[in-house]
Amino acid sequence: MNPTRRQFLATSALATSSLAIGSARAATEGPGEPLKVALVGCGGRGKGALKDFTDAAAILGCRVEVTALADAFPEQSQQAGSQFKVPPERQFAGYSAYQQAIATDCDYVILATPPIFRPVHFAAAVEAGKHCFIEKPVAVDPVGARAIAATGELASQKGLAVVAGTQRRHQHAYRVNQARVDAGAIGEIRGGVVQWNGRVPWTKPRREGWSDAEYLTRNWVNFIEMSGDHIVEQHIHNIDVAIWFLGRLPVSAIGFGGRARRPSGNQFDFFSVDFDFGDAVHIHSQCRQIAGTYGRVGEAFTGAHGSCFGGGKLSGKEVDIAPVAKDTDSAMVQEHVDLIRSVLDGKPLNEARQVADSTLAAIMGRISAYTGELVRWVDLAEREDSPHYDLRVAVDPLDFEKGTVKFPGEEPPVPGEA
Ligand SMILES: NC(=O)c1ccc[n+]([C@@H]2O[C@H](COP(=O)([O-])OP(=O)(O)OC[C@H]3O[C@@H](n4cnc5c(N)ncnc54)[C@H](O)[C@@H]3O)[C@@H](O)[C@H]2O)c1
Repeated sequence: MNPTRRQFLATSALATSSLAIGSARAATEGPGEPLKVALVGCGGRGKGALKDFTDAAAILGCRVEVTALADAFPEQSQQAGSQFKVPPERQFAGYSAYQQAIATDCDYVILATPPIFRPVHFAAAVEAGKHCFIEKPVAVDPVGARAIAATGELASQKGLAVVAGTQRRHQHAYRVNQARVDAGAIGEIRGGVVQWNGRVPWTKPRREGWSDAEYLTRNWVNFIEMSGDHIVEQHIHNIDVAIWFLGRLPVSAIGFGGRARRPSGNQFDFFSVDFDFGDAVHIHSQCRQIAGTYGRVGEAFTGAHGSCFGGGKLSGKEVDIAPVAKDTDSAMVQEHVDLIRSVLDGKPLNEARQVADSTLAAIMGRISAYTGELVRWVDLAEREDSPHYDLRVAVDPLDFEKGTVKFPGEEPPVPGEA
């Protein structure tokens, strides 16, 4: 009996190449069985990612069935339910709702909550044998980042696909430039700058009756414990590009930053970090969230005989690169095309380690700015006797499920004292 595509997905942990070929055919030959997906975190990005997943499936000739929507707050899963036509019995609410969503008959799970929850939710999804799309960043502290890498290993062993929402690694113009840089178009990268200078995305002032947990969750983008601070939450995109283009991880970071005008939460408004990539190569990382100041988002690299702006202008020599394919102009849809195709082809992509490393690099920059110390990669990734190795933020993700969250306060760290 020929396996259906659905059976293939369910047994992808043991995928064989013959099953994989069969499934890819089924996916392109007709409507067939739908791709079954659950969403955890029904906010702006979660709903966007679900739409991207649906668009990607259409590009690949597949239908989508949403098996579950989970959110901490019922109005969020209900609103997403209306938007995606998911009946109330498959809308789940509460801090344990992710478990109910993951337990439905889905093959894919999209994880798009605030980053603090990602390590716990990702572990649950992989444990249940689901392919995952994990929004960036994937952790807020070194313990969480290492947990993501470990769960990623488990996903590999189970034959599961994991794609991260860092976007640029799936964006055609970036992929072309990275290939050209890799082929020597600008020579060895000697240094560069990566930037995300903008404004505070939003704030949610505390309302009467909100518990500490609810306030932290609703105003998550302003709390270190929930977001990792904006160097991690937002600027990870650009730090990730530096790591990708250089092809190696930073060795250490020395940074500074501070708080100027942020109306709530305990984060910094700006960071300036020197990432030392070894061999005298330094990348300046700069991020700022202050309205009314000069905005710039991007990456610039100087090479031995040329220069390159992320996915923009490259000045250097002509090099031959293999053609870089694209299915869509949207990097956010392309991520899902690449995820789904990798599953259908029986060659699951696994970006868990890559996004865990970029998250940890951003955390390294943050710790150096908060403390005023030089922080080394080995202190976070390898040396168990380092004071930073077991660093956890003050709120544990499981406290939200247990109802034991303690408010961390709204005072930013003080360098030299933190
Ligand atoms: N790739 C990108 O370009 C991009 C863009 C925006 C956001 N993001 C990332 O996506 C994630 C979500 O961001 P957003 O902008 O959608 O935020 P959001 O506040 O709009 O949505 C987050 C949702 O998660 C829900 N939630 C919170 N805790 C939960 C829990 N424990 N279980 C279930 N649901 C929970 C919230 O109620 C909310 O509905 C973040 O990690 C963010 O950094 C990525």
